[in-house]
Amino acid sequence: MRIYHLSAECFPVAKVGGLADVVGALPKYQVAAGLQAAVVLPYYDRKFTREHEFDTVFQGLTLLGTRRLYFEILKEKTNALGFELFLVKIPGLIDRQEVYCYPDETDQFIAYQIAFLDWINWSGQTPDVIHCHDHHSGLVPFLLQHSNAYKRLANIPTVFTIHNGQYHGATDWEKLSYLPDIDMTKTGLLDWAGALNPLATAVKCGSAYTTVSPSYLHELTINSNGLEYLFYIEGYKGQGILNGIDTDVWNPAADKLIASKYSSTRITQGKNKNKAALCQRFGISTELPLVVFIGRLVGEKGADLLAPAIERSLQENYGRVNFLMLGAGDKNTEAELLALKEKYAEHYNVFIGYDEALAHLFYAGADFLLMPSRVEPCGLNQMYSLRYGTLPIVRSTGGLKDTVIDFGEQGGYGIRFNQASVDDICYSVNRAIVLYNDMPRLQKLRKTMMALDHSWDRSATEYVTLYNRIITAS
Ligand code: ADP
Ligand code: GLC
Repeated sequence: MRIYHLSAECFPVAKVGGLADVVGALPKYQVAAGLQAAVVLPYYDRKFTREHEFDTVFQGLTLLGTRRLYFEILKEKTNALGFELFLVKIPGLIDRQEVYCYPDETDQFIAYQIAFLDWINWSGQTPDVIHCHDHHSGLVPFLLQHSNAYKRLANIPTVFTIHNGQYHGATDWEKLSYLPDIDMTKTGLLDWAGALNPLATAVKCGSAYTTVSPSYLHELTINSNGLEYLFYIEGYKGQGILNGIDTDVWNPAADKLIASKYSSTRITQGKNKNKAALCQRFGISTELPLVVFIGRLVGEKGADLLAPAIERSLQENYGRVNFLMLGAGDKNTEAELLALKEKYAEHYNVFIGYDEALAHLFYAGADFLLMPSRVEPCGLNQMYSLRYGTLPIVRSTGGLKDTVIDFGEQGGYGIRFNQASVDDICYSVNRAIVLYNDMPRLQKLRKTMMALDHSWDRSATEYVTLYNRIITAS
């Protein structure tokens, strides 16, 4: 079965968040299961692309409205990632360093989708399934069915996976002229609330859509930035498939980025060494329970609650808990987190920025990982944390709800709270401090969480079942 995954991110080529981790891992597991899975990304001028060799497998000319674009499809020579990697390069438009946030990013993503379709069309390929991830490739299901330019491809089934339903890629109707030779009686399929909305389009036109956790499938009907009714109507096509994690990359027994390797049979010594390395680097003591946060500093992650919650917690529990933060994002939140440094230097520190290696040391060295997310479609951090024996403290939402059971419940191994609020965070941190002081119990929980299987094996099979279903129906 030939599958093309279309995505803006893929680890280690270009990563902003969890989307990259998923698209860098799922195809690898699919290849191991006998599928011919490949990833097609926009080209980025980054470390990976500079350090790897590529063949030009296709060159073409296409149109974006009246603009003529020369494009190339590059293929990574050695299959270094465990699957075929193709890059769509368009000089002057898709050849830059950053993944998002250019003023012409709508043009970039539309051109990326058109170049991909032109390539498979003109090169005579007929993949069995095209699997689109997030709104950046959301117009593909529509173009396949309703553009005269791609008539030959009209029956190819599509899956659309929603990693984040808050971002729709909505744009004004001027961009309609970019879509090649479309059936103008079908433009209603592109519309949501008066705008051209790629995420809504994909949900309407895809053979099926998936969310990255079962709980999030339901939550989209309650909170999806204006698309609630759409998800209610199209719900029959939806399925929640929980993300897995790449256990080759996230494995404390083989992780080269941490200070000391350890496994579930010998946890304590290894964790202590990593904690010592982490605490030393940030100038805090090792004896106290260490609570960390890793992530984008945005409202969805509840990042604005961190500084007030940490301040209150440190005032109430001075000398009984330490905090370390790793993240970048909202400038106010960054400033608030930085401001706490001077006041609580002995018990708190923050690294503002993105640092993949440091994230590994955080997961390995911390005792607790805090995730006060308002919205969390799946969340990978808590699964990495479980694998590293670091107890997750999470708000009960989305994928966090589906992957973490409170230690107060039968078989539980984490801490859960209901409200994204300073009160709930502080209360949960207090529970963590009490738990830390009952070390034999915490050790037992660490063993339990490290034995959990969050690998892609099960979810990869669920995708295959879905592919088979839509192929049969097409
Ligand atoms: P999201 O994709 O919404 O940001 P996920 O939990 O799915 O959330 O994935 C986040 C990924 O990004 C994880 O691999 C996490 O370790 C990583 N990450 C987030 N912020 C940072 C950072 N500042 N430095 C290093 N890694 C980070
Ligand atoms: C998005 C979501 C996150 C999810 C990731 C991978 O970035 O915010 O919850 O884990 O995609 O699916």
